[in-house]
Amino acid sequence: MENKMAIAAALAQQAGASAADLFEWIEIPPNPDMGDYAFPCFRLAKQLKKAPPAIAAELARSVALPVGISRCEAAGGYLNFFADKSAYALGVLTRILREGEAYGRAALGGGRNVCVEYSSVNIAKPFHIGHLPSTAIGNSLYRIYDFLGYHAVSINHLGDWGTQFGKMIVAYKRWGAKPITACTVRELVGLYVRFHEEAEAQPGLNEEARAWFKRIEQGDEEAVALWKQFKDLTLFEVGKVYERLGVRFDSYAGESFYEDKMQPVLDELREKGLLKVDDGASLVDLSAYDMPPCILLRSDGATLYATRDLAAAIYRKGHYDFVKSLYVVAYQQNLHFRQFFKVLELMGRTWVQDCEHVQFGMVSMEEGTLSTRHGNVVYLEDVLDAAAAKTLEIMREKSPDLENMQAAAEAVGVGAVIWGVLYNSRIKDTSFSWAKVLNFDGETGPYVQYTHARCCSVLRKAAQEYGEADFTALDAALLTDDASQALLKALGAFPDAIAAAAQKNEPYLVARATMDIAAAYNKFYYDNRIIDSADALRNARLGLTQAARTVLKTGLYLVGLQAPGRM
Ligand code: ARG
Repeated sequence: MENKMAIAAALAQQAGASAADLFEWIEIPPNPDMGDYAFPCFRLAKQLKKAPPAIAAELARSVALPVGISRCEAAGGYLNFFADKSAYALGVLTRILREGEAYGRAALGGGRNVCVEYSSVNIAKPFHIGHLPSTAIGNSLYRIYDFLGYHAVSINHLGDWGTQFGKMIVAYKRWGAKPITACTVRELVGLYVRFHEEAEAQPGLNEEARAWFKRIEQGDEEAVALWKQFKDLTLFEVGKVYERLGVRFDSYAGESFYEDKMQPVLDELREKGLLKVDDGASLVDLSAYDMPPCILLRSDGATLYATRDLAAAIYRKGHYDFVKSLYVVAYQQNLHFRQFFKVLELMGRTWVQDCEHVQFGMVSMEEGTLSTRHGNVVYLEDVLDAAAAKTLEIMREKSPDLENMQAAAEAVGVGAVIWGVLYNSRIKDTSFSWAKVLNFDGETGPYVQYTHARCCSVLRKAAQEYGEADFTALDAALLTDDASQALLKALGAFPDAIAAAAQKNEPYLVARATMDIAAAYNKFYYDNRIIDSADALRNARLGLTQAARTVLKTGLYLVGLQAPGRM
């Protein structure tokens, strides 16, 4: 039984610490005789200026026990809580039926800002499968923080600055055959590839490219107009993919946004004696921390990726005053993040401790999963298209009469792909195959969506036969069988899973909790008659079905999936 969040909230009333901290401190005792949860009171000793046993005794008297907790007891420096299992199950069910889709919401964040940077695609470059985990994990964290009462800000740190845009202009001016607005990003990528091929034989092209980028930097009208068209075209195309993924951004402030915000940072570094000139380049020496230097200015005076990230971090702190600033970026960039976080620390920006590189492993496609029409790069759009097409095939077979099959196949196919990268801890590499992600009986998105649709269908059928159910008179004591109890337990565990997911920045904890509910519901469904049971029992089982439907929908939402009512 999980009830940690409720205990943390109750303690917060008395203890003078935040529910978020308390939640983190509550332990599960190794021995159930010591209770189902234990709060180590030494955590508060310093602040309350009292010995832990005295704090435990006092809290034991004053804390208001949340629903589902029958008693609490001081034992040495610990405060032990005992759950009342049947009352708890009943409490969970009534709470879900009462709160509906708000079940699991919490006021943990108190409206404070959390910046979640994710996806961060590059202009005139492929939006490829490598961006999928960042996009899916980031979107899920964005939704999770919002659900927990934070004000989440989603940021797409576009790769829209650098000499490559000079190369793009050269390539486009030489070989571009139509207006940019009529091009596709793939065509732009083709031009860029051609630039590199031709530049091997004609190194002068690189000079030309540098000159064009300089013109962009200096605000030259023609150069800026071309750059902007590359950007608009790319944003238009990625926007279509974001729409399919249900992803949205509050800010598209990309690298170019920091062009005029880097100088003050460089000045400050110089003033603080942190900037070293080496062979013409300006850098921060990090050898004392076993890291290579963080290079901030090249010898030709050009700024770098890290320079922009420093300016961006400082800007975000100033603009959003975040309590957390997350960067959902592949683990390959680990060194880069450690370096610029260290530079911020050396600059005296203590808030850097609230910045976190939320890293993840690689995604690869298993052999034969996608025929790559475009060389080695796997475009995300192609993956989504293929997933929707495969799902459509399966649905034609499984549910030939389904209305709006196309839309359902899109929701399920895209959902399967997202679920595929969210179901394991971030850092694990994922290898992707249709057999794995589209298995309607496996631990997949489609399985959960299917279970949700099953709940909807049970409720629809019952309503047709018996009219809209009224759960105010529901007798939860009828739900004593193991399958019902297991389902109630899984439902009860859901809110804590959300809080834990935010604490660790691990959406898979929500995915797993949602999967547990789906599996428990199916067991319940196969073990029990629902619609053709006697009135009171039918009502109780429909209530449980309704609760499962509600929480499955929330779980799917939080990991970024749609919940179609029919499949
Ligand atoms: N655009 C970069 C890429 O595709 C990712 C940006 C990561 N974010 C950051 N603040 N450095 O690799």
